[in-house]
Amino acid sequence: MSQELLTGHVLRTYGSPFEQDPTDAVQIDTDGGVLIESGKIKDVGTASDLRASFPHAKLTDLGNHLILPGFVDAHVHYPQTAIIASWGKRLIDWLNTYTFPEESRFSDPVYAREIASRYLDLTLAHGTTTVCSYATIHSQSVDAFMNAARARGLRAYAGKTCMDRNAPTSLRDTAQTAYDDSAALLARWHGVDRLGYVITPRFSPTSTPAQLDALGALWAENPHCLMQTHLSEQTDEIAWVEALFPTARDYLDTYEAYGLLGENGIYGHAIHLTAREKDRLAETRAALVHCPTSNTFIGSGLFDMSLAQTLRVGLATDTGGGSSFSMLRTMAAAYEVAQLRGTVLHPAQLLWLATQGSARALKAAHQIGSLSVGLEADIIALDLASTPAIAQRVAEAEDPWQAVFPTIMMGDDRAVSGVWINGRPYNLQNCSSQDQNT
Ligand code: GUN
Ligand code: ZN
Repeated sequence: MSQELLTGHVLRTYGSPFEQDPTDAVQIDTDGGVLIESGKIKDVGTASDLRASFPHAKLTDLGNHLILPGFVDAHVHYPQTAIIASWGKRLIDWLNTYTFPEESRFSDPVYAREIASRYLDLTLAHGTTTVCSYATIHSQSVDAFMNAARARGLRAYAGKTCMDRNAPTSLRDTAQTAYDDSAALLARWHGVDRLGYVITPRFSPTSTPAQLDALGALWAENPHCLMQTHLSEQTDEIAWVEALFPTARDYLDTYEAYGLLGENGIYGHAIHLTAREKDRLAETRAALVHCPTSNTFIGSGLFDMSLAQTLRVGLATDTGGGSSFSMLRTMAAAYEVAQLRGTVLHPAQLLWLATQGSARALKAAHQIGSLSVGLEADIIALDLASTPAIAQRVAEAEDPWQAVFPTIMMGDDRAVSGVWINGRPYNLQNCSSQDQNT
């Protein structure tokens, strides 16, 4: 049985850095090692102990690079790859001007395959090994994504984005077709290799009560599946929801009334929450996803990170409302947003959010998101001196956290020096070759 031993600085996770001292919960072992066997993490410890215990393992010494779990991006729209960084709009205008015309192009399965492949190549180059994506209303956009993720051996999640109002006709389904198409895709993809199907009503403004009800019924029939949607991202959007659902207590209630609130529910953005919504999210053990580059780019607001003390909170790029494919850039934005709210996030908290925090939000922490024995070996290595500007900061670092923080704030894909997917080294130079058979 072939074994590979990675040695270097190793990020270890012992708990949530929002529930205990961050440097107790997350630690960096500067003489660490990770032993990979058959796609899984077989052992983690000090480099010398592992070398002695596994003398026949192939040794990959990464020196002073940081070995950590692959990043987990808990909320993305892969079909928005080609419109990332589109200028000048806030949410509703941005959807109508840029997003909906681009998503209409996914009626063409060839285009869907091209963008799915481009998107996953970009995210892997940035060290992201799992994403949870919205597709478009077209079933073939889910097929394209799942095939591309499967070809690369990824653990990945996605669902058909359902909309039956307030969207162009070419992007509308109905309550019945949303149910039927989602059910068929769920049957086709959920649990195939490392793939998970996610029931995906876009958000309350683009679904009639009948459609929300149909998708609530589908979730009740498949409660093990994740359900993802958007919640309280911008104040204009919240006012629109109030007008569309006059009897609802608040935005969250428009989901709960139709069976779309629960422990396997993932709610993106969740910035402008009422006290009742926060309590109800905690009672139902729902998960939130913080999308900081998106929230500043399209002017949504500042997420309250103290929610991570009571709720599962993941971190995400929200490509292409977010302005980057990089979870490093996303951690930097989370740091900056927290600063604007008067809170300082520790690098241990930022790295945890981008790995185990997001894995917990996706109910996948028993599979990915930390370097723990028995988990799937989705691993990356980061060069902590990847540019001259970063290197001169690291040269003065007095501890491992000081050494990693400049990469969090200023790093990009140049910092990613290695990627292992399910235990196999991934060739960052040769990204698209995996697609030939799909
Ligand atoms: N709300 C509904 N759809 C979207 C989307 O595509 N992006 C963002 N950021 N918010 C949304
Ligand atoms: Zn989104």
